[in-house]
Amino acid sequence: MIQAVLVFMAVPTLWAASVCQPCHPKQTEAYFRSPMGNAIGLAKVSPQTGFTHSKSKTAFSVMGQGKAVVHRIERSGLVGEYPVSYRIGSGNHAEGFLVRIGEWLFQSPVAKYKRLDLWDVAPGYEAMTHPDFNRRVSSECLACHSSGSIDNLQPISCEQCHGPAQAHLLKPGRGNIQNPVRLGVEARDAVCERCHLTGEARIGYAGGESVAVYDRPREDLRVVSHVEQLALSECARQSEGKLWCGSCHQPHGEKIDVDATCRSCHGRAEHADRKECVGCHMPKRDAVDGGHTAFTDHRIQREAAKVSAKTEARLRLWREVGDPALRERNLGLASIQVGERDGVPELINDGYRRLAAVFSRWPRDADVLSGLGMVLFLKDQKKDAVKLLEAAVQARPGDAALHEKLALVRRADANLPGAIASLERSITLDPGRESAYFFLAECQGTAAGREQVLKRLLRVFPQSLLAREALLRSARP
Ligand code: HEC
Ligand code: HEC
Ligand code: HEC
Ligand code: HEC
Ligand code: HEC
Ligand code: HEC
Ligand code: HEC
Repeated sequence: MIQAVLVFMAVPTLWAASVCQPCHPKQTEAYFRSPMGNAIGLAKVSPQTGFTHSKSKTAFSVMGQGKAVVHRIERSGLVGEYPVSYRIGSGNHAEGFLVRIGEWLFQSPVAKYKRLDLWDVAPGYEAMTHPDFNRRVSSECLACHSSGSIDNLQPISCEQCHGPAQAHLLKPGRGNIQNPVRLGVEARDAVCERCHLTGEARIGYAGGESVAVYDRPREDLRVVSHVEQLALSECARQSEGKLWCGSCHQPHGEKIDVDATCRSCHGRAEHADRKECVGCHMPKRDAVDGGHTAFTDHRIQREAAKVSAKTEARLRLWREVGDPALRERNLGLASIQVGERDGVPELINDGYRRLAAVFSRWPRDADVLSGLGMVLFLKDQKKDAVKLLEAAVQARPGDAALHEKLALVRRADANLPGAIASLERSITLDPGRESAYFFLAECQGTAAGREQVLKRLLRVFPQSLLAREALLRSARP
């Protein structure tokens, strides 16, 4: 039976859970009742509702049309309507929504928040003056929230925690499939870290990915930071790997009695007779990036008020990599990225020093070249920045974002035709790259030239409010 399945299906990257279900019905059914088993799916049709985002004077509405859900955006008389393809988030805290435009998925600016039973803009849109359906959903989002391909998104699969199942399916039994509880501490924790540790930056390299975190913890609580928080607790630090996510969470349903877990180690604590340890030691708090949601503080502190860990302008890698030069490369790239994002010059300088020191090892690494190039650009060393970005583009010619960066430094170096050529290349490689069109429009000398570029953008995204607003502005005398 299983053999037949193997023969008739083109070898997929991940097996569907329906393949495991006949032999593991209990685990499968419990998993699909849990929030993680429902992290993505179809949006439910609900009564028509709506809200106005006052900061941007934009009206949003949510409408059911038969079985479809449609999100509508309206600002200054311009309207866009988008059928919703997927919901993202089980709704445990919040639900986001994805719409398909052309071959791409975009996050809708509309979200639903459970605790307050409220519809509002999604996290990150609060302060925007011109929200639109233009936040593209990256493959990174989907790698944490789903399995399958962009054309057929499926829930997080069994294999995302249990590893490749091919051998197990051929010869079902123990020993040829990963069970997180039987792994060593680091490998076990890594199973959940893949998705529950965002860190400040994630740096890819041949053969892996490094997650960089601030050397000292951030004071604020973020949505995806449970791993970092737990690691800060005295409970985790002083129990030699005994305490892990699985001590309190069971992906296969049966809810764990967390207070009993606390007592299993603190049986003789002074007030071990108190009920509900969690309410006092793991209180709910707002997350800075979570919109109207509250999350559980996993730092397990004595008293919540006493924490005041200040962040420091230094990063470290969550997991060390063996090769010291590779470590410098990854830390250097992360420091530059985070330094630019958070506006921290010390981090940018630190990153530059690290990269420059190992540059000879990676003279043709597109990430290293563009990292160094962008620092020089910030330091106003335009000629050298252009050289480095040109080398980066040569090393990875198919990367639309790199071409756009090259355009940025070329324009700063007063090479407008060069900048335009880079932007055209960027758009050819990725026709859905909105930022490249707007940049290209900016590089045009005439109103007619600008309008032509905006019309090209509208052919790809006919309902774009931003493009239509820009066209109207440009038409005004
Ligand atoms: C034809 C039946 C069959 C199918 C299909 C099957 N398994 Fe199993 N699985 C078994 C058997 C038998 C065991 C051993 C159970 C035992 O010894 O208690 C097992 C054990 C496991 C274990 C525990 C391993 C351990 O060391 O603790 C995991 C995890 C597991 N399977 C996951 C999966 C996943 C994921 C799939 C789908 C990709 C799957 N199985 C498909 C029969 C199957
Ligand atoms: C590193 C993995 C990772 C990436 C990348 C990621 N997420 Fe998440 N996301 C999570 C995890 C884990 C949670 C659950 C957090 C929790 O419940 O505390 C979550 C929560 C959410 C929620 C709220 C779900 C709920 O039920 O509360 C939404 C909506 C969401 N993410 C959307 C996105 C979008 C859109 C992207 C891409 C821009 C994205 N995420 C990128 C891991 C990730
Ligand atoms: C492939 C990515 C991925 C992996 C691997 C993963 N998670 Fe999650 N997890 C998520 C996402 C996404 C959510 C948010 C689900 C939602 O929409 O509510 C989540 C939610 C959760 C939640 C909150 C909801 C609940 O079920 O109560 C817990 C707890 C959790 N995960 C624990 C774990 C543990 C423990 C592990 C490791 C054994 C793990 N996760 C591995 C992606 C992942
Ligand atoms: C988010 C991570 C995660 C996902 C996804 C996941 N599992 Fe598991 N699974 C675990 C963990 C952790 C354990 C160990 C639980 C324990 O013993 O406390 C486990 C244990 C198991 C076991 C062994 C149970 C036993 O009692 O020995 C089986 C079988 C299993 N999972 C099957 C599946 C199947 C089938 C799917 C997909 C429908 C799946 N798992 C999806 C994390 C996951
Ligand atoms: C695997 C064992 C283990 C588990 C489970 C565990 N702890 Fe701890 N915890 C420790 C150890 C070890 C320490 C450090 C020594 C001490 O203070 O007892 C500690 C310290 C603490 C402290 C003092 C923290 C500080 O900053 O001084 C508190 C409060 C605490 N635990 C509460 C809890 C609560 C509440 C739970 C359940 C949610 C829990 N612990 C679960 C092992 C554990
Ligand atoms: C000592 C117990 C304990 C440990 C260990 C633990 N958690 Fe939790 N976790 C909780 C409690 C309690 C909640 C709140 C549950 C609720 O409100 O229903 C929670 C909630 C969550 C949620 C839901 C969102 C939120 O913040 O309320 C996620 C996601 C989560 N935990 C992930 C993890 C991950 C990943 C790990 C491992 C790094 C982990 N947890 C380790 C006790 C624990
Ligand atoms: C009503 C709130 C409350 C509840 C409920 C509560 N604690 Fe505490 N706990 C505190 C406070 C406040 C402190 C710090 C003051 C102190 O040291 O007495 C503390 C201190 C601790 C410490 C560190 C004490 C030491 O001797 O170093 C541990 C361990 C602890 N609690 C575990 C637990 C466990 C386990 C539970 C559940 C059985 C629990 N607490 C329930 C409020 C609470």
